[in-house]
Amino acid sequence: MSKSMMTVQRHILEQERAHPQATGDLTGLLWDLTIAAKVISHQVNRGGLADIVGETGEANVTGDLVRRLDWIAQDTIYRAMDHGGHLCVMVSEESPDIIPIPAKFPKGPYVLLYDPLDGSSNIEANVSIGTIFSVHRRISSSGDGTLGDCLRRGSEQIAAGYFLYGSSTMIVYTTGQGVYGFTLEPSIGEFILSHERILTPPKGKYYSINEGNVAAWDEPTRRYIEYLKQKDAATGRPYSLRYIGSLVADFHRTLLYGGVFLYPADCSNPQEPKPKLRLLYEVAPMAFIMDQAGGAATTGMQNVLDVQPISLHDRVPVVMGSTQDVRVYEKFCADSNRDPANPTRFK
Ligand code: AHG
Ligand code: MN
Ligand code: MN
Repeated sequence: MSKSMMTVQRHILEQERAHPQATGDLTGLLWDLTIAAKVISHQVNRGGLADIVGETGEANVTGDLVRRLDWIAQDTIYRAMDHGGHLCVMVSEESPDIIPIPAKFPKGPYVLLYDPLDGSSNIEANVSIGTIFSVHRRISSSGDGTLGDCLRRGSEQIAAGYFLYGSSTMIVYTTGQGVYGFTLEPSIGEFILSHERILTPPKGKYYSINEGNVAAWDEPTRRYIEYLKQKDAATGRPYSLRYIGSLVADFHRTLLYGGVFLYPADCSNPQEPKPKLRLLYEVAPMAFIMDQAGGAATTGMQNVLDVQPISLHDRVPVVMGSTQDVRVYEKFCADSNRDPANPTRFK
C-alpha cells in the first residue's frame, strides 16, 4: 500500500488543529513560505545558468552571481510574506534593521526571522544551500511589530525550519510537535512527506567543523576534537570528519545521521572571542529543530535556546547534534576556565 500522499500544506493544517487557540495564521504563514521556497529553488537550480552567461555571452563574475541570488532570495521571501496579514514584522540576515510590514497591508500575530540564502558562497560549486526561518508570536499588543518582538530567546519559538536546495528540494520544520521532512515533487509542485518524525541518534560517528580554523579554537574545543580522533570505546574507530561549509547541508546530515556540528568562536584573541553564526536566524532555529529531534545545542556553557539576544545580528558559538556527543563537549568546557556569566568570554 503506497504511503499516504501527505502534503506539507495538509500536515501544517493538522499540526495547527493541535493548537485549540490557533487562528490559521501560522498555517497561512508557512504556506506562503513554501511558495517562496519553490520560487527560490527554481532560481537557484537554473539561476546559475541564466546568470553565468550574460546577454553578450561572456562568463559572469561569480561574485555578482552569488550576490544576485542572495538578493533574489531576500526579495522573493519579502514579496511572498509582506501582504498575507500573518506577520507584524520581519528580520533578515540581508537587512540591518527590522523590516516593517507596509502600512497598506494588515498586520498579524507572528514575527518571521530568516536567512534567505545560507551557504551562498557554495553556489558556484553546485553544493546544497538553503533558507532558514524562525517564527515567534508577537509580544507587542498591536500595530507595527517592534525590536522587542524580535529579540527573543530560542525557547520561545513557535516554529522553525529550513529549505534545502540540493539534489532534491526539501523542507524540514517543527511547530514543537516533532520534526518532519517533505521532499518537493517537481511534477506536481508539492512538498510530500518523506521523513516522518525525524529523530537524531543519541550518539554519532561524524564530526563537522572547519579544521582550517584550528589555530583560532579555544582549548576545550581543541581537546574535544583531539578526543574524537581517538578510537571510540564503542566502535573502536575514530569519528570521521564531514564538512561542506553550508550550515543547512552540514546540519541536515547531522540531524539525520547523528554526530556533532561545531562552529566555535574565533579565539585568536581570548579576550575578544569572535563567533560567526548568527543567533536569531541561523543558530536558534536549528537548535529548536535539533531539540525537537531529541538532540542538543549548546554554546559550550549554556543551552542555545536560553540565550537572550541583545541585537538583531548577534553571533554565538554553537555545538549541536547527538545528545551524548554534545554533553561530552560541555564537559570539556566545564573543565576549562570559561566565564559562565558570559559564555563567549573567558575568566
Ligand atoms: P551565509 O551564506 O548565510 O552567510 O552562511 C554561511 C555560513 C554557514 O552556511 C556555514 O556553516 C558557514 O558560513 C561556513 O563558514 P566557513 O566558510 O568559515 O567554514
Ligand atoms: Mn547563513
Ligand atoms: Mn545567508
